[in-house]
Formats: sequence, C-alpha cells, structure tokens
Amino acid sequence: MKIYVPMDSAAKALGSDDVAATIRTEAATRGLDVEIIRNGTRGMIWLEPLVEIETDQGRLGYGAVDAADAGALLDGKLASLGLVDELDWMKAQTRLTFQRCGVIDPLSLQDFEAHGGLAGLRRAIAMTPAEVVEEVTTSGLRGRGGAGFPTGIKWNTVLGAQADQKYIVCNADEGDSGTFADRMIMEGDPFTLIEGMAIAGLAVEATRGYVYLRSEYPDAIAVMEEAVRIARAAGVLGADVLGSGRAFDMEIRVGAGAYVCGEETSLLNSLEGKRGVVRAKPPLPALEGFLGKPTVVNNVISLATVPVILEKGAQYYADFGLGRSKGTIPIQIAGNVKYGGLFETAFGMPLGQLVDEIAGGTLSGRPVKAVQVGGPLGAYMPRGKFDTPFGYEEFDGQGGLIGHAGLVVFDESADMRAMARFAMEFCAVESCGKCTPCRIGAVRGVETIDRIGEGDASAIPLLEDLCETMKDGSLCALGGFTPYPVLSALQAFPEDFAAIKEAAE
Ligand code: NAI
Ligand code: SF4
Repeated sequence: MKIYVPMDSAAKALGSDDVAATIRTEAATRGLDVEIIRNGTRGMIWLEPLVEIETDQGRLGYGAVDAADAGALLDGKLASLGLVDELDWMKAQTRLTFQRCGVIDPLSLQDFEAHGGLAGLRRAIAMTPAEVVEEVTTSGLRGRGGAGFPTGIKWNTVLGAQADQKYIVCNADEGDSGTFADRMIMEGDPFTLIEGMAIAGLAVEATRGYVYLRSEYPDAIAVMEEAVRIARAAGVLGADVLGSGRAFDMEIRVGAGAYVCGEETSLLNSLEGKRGVVRAKPPLPALEGFLGKPTVVNNVISLATVPVILEKGAQYYADFGLGRSKGTIPIQIAGNVKYGGLFETAFGMPLGQLVDEIAGGTLSGRPVKAVQVGGPLGAYMPRGKFDTPFGYEEFDGQGGLIGHAGLVVFDESADMRAMARFAMEFCAVESCGKCTPCRIGAVRGVETIDRIGEGDASAIPLLEDLCETMKDGSLCALGGFTPYPVLSALQAFPEDFAAIKEAAE
C-alpha cells in the first residue's frame, strides 16, 4: 500500500512527521506492507496533515489527520474526503507551475520525469539561445516576484550582453507577509526550479547559477541542496547538461535574514558577501549584476514556470489569462479565512470571488473589512474594490499591486490606523538606510500616525505629504511602496483615523 504524507514545512508544523512515524509503527504492528512517500503539499493548508492512500481509482484523501488516527486509517475506519483530484479546491484550479507539487516524491528524479519533468529542458537544448528567449517572450511570462517585468525581455538583455561569464540568480528570499509559493515549490517540486534555471542558463549563455534562499526556510534549503546533488549526479547539471555539450551548474546560498535582501541589488550585494544595501540602478543587473557580470535575477516562480512553457509551448501558456497578464498565477491565501492555502489560477479571477468563494470568507464569521494584496507594501483593498480582476494593470488601476500574489484577509475588527502604523514601523525597521525618504521618513511616519491617533487631525495632510515624498524620492520599493498600505487605509477607512478625535470632542 502506498501512503503519501507531506514533508512540506506547513504540514510538518501541523504534525505530519508524527503522523508518518505513527503510520509506520501501526503498519508494522499489523504486519502490513506499507510504503510511505513524503510528498509536498497540495496547498490545502486547512486539511494538513493531508494523508493520501493510492487506490485503483486515484488517491483518496484524509485530513486533517492526527497521529492518533493512524490505526483507524490503516483499518479503513477513517472517513475519507474522497479523491483528492476531485476536491472542489483542486478542480477549480489551473495548475501549470504547480502541476507536480504534492503529487510526486520531491526528491525522485524518476518520478519528476514520469510526470513531464525535463521535457522543457530537452526541448530548449534542441533550440538556439535566441529561440528559447523568443519562446519565453511570446509566452508573456512576467516577473512573479512582484514587479511584473517581462521575463523574455530581461533575458534578451542578458543574452545580448558581451561578457566572459554570465550568471542566473534565483531570488528565493520570499519576505512578503502571507506568501509561501516559493517555499512550497522548493519543498514540493525542487527539480522544476532546477530545470527552469538550467533553461535560463542555456537561453542567455550563463554557465553558473545561484539560489539565494532565506535562512528562515531550513526545510527548503535541505530539499534544494539534496535536489541539486541528485541533478548533478544524473547529468542534469554540470559540464554537459543532458549530453548537450553545454554547461550549467548551480548552488544554494543561504541569505542572512533581512527583508531588503529580497530587492535584487541588495540581494546581489549579500550574495557577494557584502552588507545587503541597495545599489543605484542603472546599471541594471542584466548588464552589471553578480560580481559585475551580466546576470538574470528572477524570482522562484518565474523560473519554475519556464519548464511548462517550454514543455507545452508559448502559445499554450499565453492563451490563459487576461490582457497583458498572461498565464497563471499561484495565489497565496492567508489571514482570517476559512480555507487558506495556494490556489493557482489563470489571471482574471475577481478579488471578491477569491475571498468569498475560494477562501470561504472569514474564519471568525465576521464580515471582511479589507484584504492586503501583495505583501506588507501592498494596498488594502476594501469590499468596494472586490470586482477588480486579478491582473497587473487591473490592480494598478485601483491604486494597488499584486506583488508576489499574497492575500491577507482582515475582518471588521481590524483597526486600519494600527495597520497603517505597522506599515511605517516595518519600513523603519527593515530600511537599509541608504536613502533619506525611507530611513527618516518611515520614523516620521510612525510619529505622524501616532499624532493622528491622539486626535491631531492637522497631521493627516502631513502624512499624505510624507507619503508623496517617500513614493517619489525613495531608491527602492521598500520606501517607495510603503505609502500604498498607508494611503489605501487612510482613503478607504477614514473613520479609523478620526475615531479618537471625535471621541475627545
Ligand atoms: P523594477 O520595476 O525596478 O524592476 C523589475 C525588474 O526588471 C528588475 O529585475 C530590473 O532589473 C528589470 N529590468 C528593468 N528594465 C530592464 C531592462 N531594460 N532589461 C532588463 N531588465 C530590466 O522593480 P523591483 O524594484 O525589482 O521590484 C519591485 C517589486 O518587488 C514590487 O512590485 C514589489 O511588489 C515586489 N516585492 C516583492 C517582494 C517579495 O517578497 N517577493 C518583497 C518586496 C517587494
Ligand atoms: Fe534602502 Fe529604504 Fe532607500 Fe530602499 S528605500 S534604498 S530600503 S533606504
């Protein structure tokens, strides 16, 4: 009997290691021949640990399983959720980037290949570098780290640069609150990221790659390191990638733990062993990046999406989505929701559908007040903006951003002035200190919001002025985007900023 028990760190945090160990012991007691496979998560975090048993009809799911349920599970006395692939959450998705996550054994290259892995790399090997870049450009893939810059255009700049050495750097410093897509794919399908990096290497003629992985992700670090070792031993990485005569190798570098190291130039400094301080652009990393050489810096999800584009073709991918937001986006749903987890869908689904239907509304049962989309630098979207389709331009048009596609949901008890204060405080703590609007502005922002809280309404225009200065004068997104949560909270929920003054009058 084949039993799948996730080894993803969210599942582990909910007890999956204990569940796996108890199933093993109970099976031995019963003399049952059981093979336990530690897979990644399917992304339905409220069902973790989600245990799956292989049957002739497909994989039956059981969740959330407690170690004490192991005996009943083996005796067929535990109620099943039904076939996992038939669950509403799974059926409603379009899984392209995450097609194998939770399905395969993350560290079995054989399993990976049996589920379509390496088909994209093999196709890329048969193409010229320019053809691979053209394929990625045609697919419409845009940077999934948040900025949404066209990946193919970035690669083309690096391909066109003349240098004795070029690099691929994967940004796995997933620092946005409420986001976990990078971690989930690295733990659940690491070879997809390796394949994507190898394709990027062939496309721009870079022979070395680095994954800058945050130290807060010890499980992802362990899985990625082992996957790189296996891929190298199997000839997927090295001097002769899959017998192509072309070289690409990579390694994992562990980050030192600062939010700003997710900003690409700060990341490059950190990767070079320097302090993680933002560099001025230009020069772009595409021309002068790691060690001053032309470098592709892409987010995990951008790179992990490249294999499916090469496997199925650019047009197949581009046919999903809306407007200039092509393909699919793994949306991470967190905060006060009934159903939290990862939901991959074509761009275009309205925010309200994601919150009310997919996430099932709030766990507290109180009405939703706001959703912060795009991490700590993202705007608070009130219910009035719930018809906004999930897309880069569509969110921009509503004064928001989709960022790394994390949603954090708040119910009506949220104090939006406190949330705005938190945004400024976060910026003050995480600022790299290089530019004044961010370094000093964020500290003044906290003080100004406190003045508003004490009933000083004259501080509101001051706060608005300060936000304009931070937006226009900051060197990077940390200082430049902190005004998004602050101003969106002020504009959509002015009553939360006026309450104390009115009470005092
Ligand atoms: P950006 O707009 O300056 O640049 C986007 C990317 O395009 C960069 O890699 C840049 O080097 C590249 N680029 C621009 N012009 C190019 C050209 N002509 N040729 C080649 N490459 C070119 O944005 P930035 O500062 O890199 O990122 C800001 C975004 O990061 C925000 O939208 C925010 O949502 C997101 N973010 C994500 C976080 C996360 O945890 N994933 C955390 C914080 C912010
Ligand atoms: Fe550093 Fe903040 Fe300026 Fe960015 S905006 S360069 S984090 S001081």
